[in-house]
Amino acid sequence: EKTAIGIAHSKLILIGEHAVVHGQPAIAIPFPLIGVETVIEQVPGTVKIDSAFYHGPMNLAPDSLQGIVKCIKGTLDYLEMPPEDLLIKISSSIPPGKGLGSSASVAISVIRSLFAFANRTYSEEEILDLANIAETHAHGQPSGIDTLTITSSSPVWYEKDFPIKYIDLKEDFYFVVADSGRVGDTRMSVESVARLLKSAPKRIHRKLERIGELTHQAKHALEKAGKHLLGHLLDEAQRELEALGVSDAGLNRLIYFARQEGALGAKLTGGGNGGCIIALARNEVHSRQLAENLRKYGAHAVWPFVLKKQD
Ligand code: MEV
Repeated sequence: EKTAIGIAHSKLILIGEHAVVHGQPAIAIPFPLIGVETVIEQVPGTVKIDSAFYHGPMNLAPDSLQGIVKCIKGTLDYLEMPPEDLLIKISSSIPPGKGLGSSASVAISVIRSLFAFANRTYSEEEILDLANIAETHAHGQPSGIDTLTITSSSPVWYEKDFPIKYIDLKEDFYFVVADSGRVGDTRMSVESVARLLKSAPKRIHRKLERIGELTHQAKHALEKAGKHLLGHLLDEAQRELEALGVSDAGLNRLIYFARQEGALGAKLTGGGNGGCIIALARNEVHSRQLAENLRKYGAHAVWPFVLKKQD
């Protein structure tokens, strides 16, 4: 019996979310502590999906899976495979709706598994184009940064319509990601910023540009100036995101607490309005303490991790 497997890790936006949708740069990092694995088995009948949220025929999948359903159909079409005789088993350790790129990771692992099943190799471009079918459904107007970061193994500098650049770190940086517990909806957040931009173009454009400037400075901090400047920039970016209306009380509380516990800086990561924060720790020991304290303080999940200087 034929089977195939496809995996994908998660991603984090360090700085520049939302502004990146409107042409500003953003910096994102691959987050390999969590990810998605898809296994495909040949099983007679219609295409079936087996996931934590749904088990059954693809054609009867609930609304929440429509992005991935479109992506599966698009990929089968592209591979000229008939939509039958497949059981697609998706297992993910990425909490959905938390700004961690769950939708893009699911799409990429599913696409990789379908290519493997068809014995076809793929180019980066093919994967990204197909994954963006799912992202357009999830984000409305995706910048493409999530899919790009998920297929990368180093931090990326991303600007819409420009080739990505990789960032060469000055030193190791220690972070903690903490989940506020509330599920966010990236599509709604992206749409609310677009509405604000329409209603107060000058003021909001200035804010998006300011996030762009902070992102440029963050690249300098990662490559040359180091963690103290980076922490300060994360705090500044959070102020702008709050002004854009994409932070919420749960995120603000965790951010405040992280700073109180000695984080060099902290902000929301991803779509916001629910989801996760990212805090910059002083060193490895501090990242573990900070994670522990954030959990005691009520974070639903915490992940201390290091962004390692490449050799
Ligand atoms: C989501 O991870 C990042 C956003 O900027 C949306 C996007 O870029 O597509 C909020």
